[in-house]
Amino acid sequence: MGNFLVTGGAGYVGSHLVRALADRGDTVVVVDDLRQGHRAAVPAGVELIQLDLADRRSLAEIFAGWKFEAVFHFAALSLVGESMRDPLRYCIENLSNSLGLADAAVKAGVMRFVLSSTAALFGDPEAVPIPEEAKLAPTNAYGESKLMVEKGLAWADRVHGLRFACLRYFNAAGADPQGRIGEDHEPETHLVPLAIGAALGTRQPLTVFGTDYPTPDGTCIRDYVHVTDLADAHLRVLERLEQGSVRYNVGSGTGYSVKQVIEAVERIGGRPVPHSLGPRRAGDPAVLVASSERLKAETGWAPRFGALDDIVRTAWAWHSARPQGYGDR
Ligand code: UFG
Repeated sequence: MGNFLVTGGAGYVGSHLVRALADRGDTVVVVDDLRQGHRAAVPAGVELIQLDLADRRSLAEIFAGWKFEAVFHFAALSLVGESMRDPLRYCIENLSNSLGLADAAVKAGVMRFVLSSTAALFGDPEAVPIPEEAKLAPTNAYGESKLMVEKGLAWADRVHGLRFACLRYFNAAGADPQGRIGEDHEPETHLVPLAIGAALGTRQPLTVFGTDYPTPDGTCIRDYVHVTDLADAHLRVLERLEQGSVRYNVGSGTGYSVKQVIEAVERIGGRPVPHSLGPRRAGDPAVLVASSERLKAETGWAPRFGALDDIVRTAWAWHSARPQGYGDR
């Protein structure tokens, strides 16, 4: 059993890792400023410290008070659209908080660090599925900020021996299969919760962003990966760090169009998704699908909820049981 620090552990993806760690008996400390996170997403028995990562002095005290074996770093600004309205904020905040955290870890002798990175590093890929060696050319400031963090961690490895893993998530979706936690963003910009909310009548009808992409049905194709499978990838890379730092793309390896996602929600929910067809959203690549072969080969990871219907089924269960999410806004 280990002792871990999870930043952003009250947020969507982070809270699913916290459950996975707590379920197997690890000790977890969550640091979250609760701007996007939810107190109720953190299980009883897990210490939640409400803190902005910019508060380096408190961070150093936390490291001094606990002997962490590793840090999982989820807390970040993560909205692509917002990053294109305020690029410097994204670069400054994500870079300084992430590398400030890594610095605090190194100074405390905590030499294992797992970063939530993103498929947005790849911009418009030259080919899909996208392997780790593909060109890194972000088309938005969010992706650029994560790329800068990845580069900083590489220097910390070279100079200090920090073992790091960069997990480049594709489209995180779904909810805890036991229904304990799920997705609750404000504002919500992601396709799966918006489509389900439209079907449930708890949100406005959906707008499909673009129907003239060079894809079979004209809508964008994405690789949706279940949030529980993402959590599992974190547990596995922790072991892999014994052999050195790693970078992995994490996706199911299958692409689904926006129309296919709408059809899946209608199939699972048994009711229509009210929607209209609109123009493209700026900065959206036509197709993003991961090759996760390296992750599979080196850690034994395989998606347990790889089918789109599994993702939609767990998300539907969460949103229909909790139409107001955690209800704390
Ligand atoms: N979409 C719609 N209508 C909506 C919302 C989304 O048609 O109201 C479409 C988008 O255009 C896109 C697809 O649904 O084609 C998925 O969009 P999301 O906003 O759910 O996800 P993105 O692919 O834009 O972004 C996600 C993460 C980012 C990450 C990126 C990497 O949210 O943090 O994947 O691929 F950078």
